[in-house]
Amino acid sequence: MKKKLLNIFMGCAIGMFALSAPAMAGDVCIDCHTKVSPGQVQDWKASVHSENDVTCSTCHGEKHTKAEDANLAQLPAESVCAECHEEQFDGFSHGKHNFGWTSLNAMPVTHVEPDELMEGGRGCGGCHNMGIKSEAQKKEQLDKGYRYQNNSCDECHTRHSFSKKEAQQPRACQQCHMGYDHPQWEMWSSSKHGERWFAKQNGALPESAVAPTCQTCHMPEGSHNNHTAWGFLGVRLPLPEDPQWAADRVVILKALGVLSPETGEPTARLDAVKAVDLCRLDQESWQKERDKMIKTCSQCHAASYAKTQLDMGDSMLQKADRLLAQSIETVAALYKDGIIKKPDAYSFAYPDFLFFMRTGGGDLKQATYIEQVLFQMYMKHRMRTYQAQFHVNPDYAYWYGWAMMTKDLVEIEDLAHTMRATHGK
Ligand code: HEC
Ligand code: HEC
Ligand code: HEC
Ligand code: HEC
Ligand code: HEC
Ligand code: HEC
Ligand code: HEC
Ligand code: HEC
Repeated sequence: MKKKLLNIFMGCAIGMFALSAPAMAGDVCIDCHTKVSPGQVQDWKASVHSENDVTCSTCHGEKHTKAEDANLAQLPAESVCAECHEEQFDGFSHGKHNFGWTSLNAMPVTHVEPDELMEGGRGCGGCHNMGIKSEAQKKEQLDKGYRYQNNSCDECHTRHSFSKKEAQQPRACQQCHMGYDHPQWEMWSSSKHGERWFAKQNGALPESAVAPTCQTCHMPEGSHNNHTAWGFLGVRLPLPEDPQWAADRVVILKALGVLSPETGEPTARLDAVKAVDLCRLDQESWQKERDKMIKTCSQCHAASYAKTQLDMGDSMLQKADRLLAQSIETVAALYKDGIIKKPDAYSFAYPDFLFFMRTGGGDLKQATYIEQVLFQMYMKHRMRTYQAQFHVNPDYAYWYGWAMMTKDLVEIEDLAHTMRATHGK
């Protein structure tokens, strides 16, 4: 009897629910998800969206209504956000972040390392999930059995609170801009600029004290279009005027595989590099970014002071290139003399930086130790040498950057010497 009453009651409740469902589909989602994933609902409730009728079904559609058909839920790409946030979408789509996924996939290494570290979204793919994916890219991901990582906006405005304030925190950049080859977080947070920001955070300095964050310098005035002059690789066309620097650059461009080590002519890879805006291709576009940056610095510094600081970054890059080019040539000579054999996947018998550490994935032979030292010199230590100059960090500039490059140089020469002495023995 009791049970029957309950059933009648339940029936009524479901009936009422069904009636109101079309108008308030969001509530169906919320009712159930309050039970199955309460944290998500709690986070959404704290968002500006929840106050503006942007509900679960606005972004995920209405096709999935029960536990068994969760795969019918749409996982929204950036285009869904664009319907209401055109300005930010537009800025983002013209910015450097939009190339994250494509530039990752342009690297030969991506196709020989474990999928978990790419489409799976840990490793390289955990950070390069920045950028609007083409239909073909989405299909490739799905074909490999991976369904998530469809949205870039939630990398800074974490779902489901989608907060502006969170994205204004320099920590919003930390997850990706840290570590091995781009420790901007570590450099900034332990620089004078970062120290000031932390002092403001804990109230030691007043709210009005000036302290530049990543966003101050890289997303000024809420811009979603982020570019720097040198970019990540620290190379630019045309080649520098200084003859030694130009010669060193040619060596580096060969190791990047964009110039043929045999003829010195551009290879097909140069087009791939151009397509993902990997480096500025003329002095003018480089200068435009530099001038913008000096303007930002001069909110708080004399423009000439800022210019001197940034010029030092450029000249440290030049000095770093000298050391790197010497080491590339040492390893290239081992290829030339047959002491290191050309892997089948390489186009040339020459070091190839775009295979990264060459951990031996697929049928690719593992790199020799000397090549890994060379890669580390390029990717870890050369990056730090000039990135630290730009991010005003004394220790990274010297001990973690420049000093380590000189150590790599000696190690590479030593290893080459031993390899030659023991070759064929
Ligand atoms: C009756 C309960 C129920 C209702 C109603 C419901 N969901 Fe779900 N939903 C689930 C469960 C359970 C899962 C997790 C399935 C799993 O773990 O594989 C899920 C998963 C999801 C996912 C993740 C899909 C994926 O690929 O991982 C999304 C997004 C989602 N729901 C959104 C919604 C939206 C939007 C609505 C309303 C239109 C809704 N849900 C209604 C129970 C429900
Ligand atoms: C403003 C758009 C938006 C709204 C509103 C929204 N979501 Fe999402 N949701 C997303 C995005 C973006 C993702 C990530 C998609 C991806 O990774 O491919 C996501 C992912 C999910 C997932 C799968 C990932 C996981 O951690 O399980 C679930 C489940 C989910 N949402 C449930 C909900 C529920 C429930 C609501 C309502 C309380 C909701 N969403 C409201 C945008 C939204
Ligand atoms: C149906 C329209 C709609 C969609 C779709 C939508 N939003 Fe919003 N969003 C709003 C409205 C309305 C506001 C509040 C008013 C405003 O700030 O423009 C808002 C506010 C925001 C804010 C500012 C929050 C704050 O703390 O002030 C962010 C960030 C945001 N949305 C990101 C997103 C992202 C990312 C997506 C896609 C995953 C998305 N929105 C999808 C309508 C939408
Ligand atoms: C911790 C996050 C993270 C991981 C892991 C990561 N990257 Fe990156 N990657 C970045 C960031 C951030 C940048 C931009 C750095 C800069 O400009 O200083 C970048 C830059 C690049 C660039 C240059 C893009 C350009 O246009 O300048 C390529 C190519 C690249 N990464 C490939 C890879 C590959 C391949 C892997 C894995 C072997 C990988 N990344 C792992 C975050 C990451
Ligand atoms: C690299 C981090 C980052 C990414 C990625 C990002 N945003 Fe933002 N977004 C920010 C920052 C920082 C702000 C605050 C700007 C300011 O201070 O005015 C912001 C502000 C916003 C606002 C609030 C605007 C206002 O002033 O009310 C919206 C809406 C928004 N973003 C939408 C998006 C959408 C849509 C995407 C994806 C196309 C996106 N964002 C991707 C960092 C990011
Ligand atoms: C005071 C301004 C300032 C702050 C704060 C700042 N940067 Fe930079 N950043 C620069 C300058 C200057 C460059 C070099 C620009 C050039 O190439 O001329 C740069 C370059 C970069 C690059 C390209 C590679 C490199 O390092 O040279 C990335 C990526 C970057 N910054 C990210 C960040 C992140 C993330 C933060 C916060 C943790 C941050 N920056 C904080 C000024 C700043
Ligand atoms: C989810 C990871 C991720 C987050 C979070 C992130 N970035 Fe990035 N960022 C990247 C990747 C990946 C690239 C390289 C994109 C490419 O391949 O061109 C990049 C590139 C950049 C560049 C361009 C450097 C150049 O080549 O000129 C700047 C500047 C930058 N990010 C600033 C920021 C700032 C500021 C924040 C925080 C508000 C931020 N990023 C948050 C992953 C991230
Ligand atoms: C929002 C204000 C602000 C901006 C923008 C800013 N700075 Fe600073 N900077 C400061 C403050 C405050 C200090 C600490 C006082 C001082 O040394 O002038 C500082 C210190 C410095 C120092 C000395 C660091 C030390 O260890 O003594 C250098 C170098 C510097 N900034 C370079 C730059 C460059 C280059 C830019 C632009 C890329 C820049 N700053 C942008 C506020 C700013």
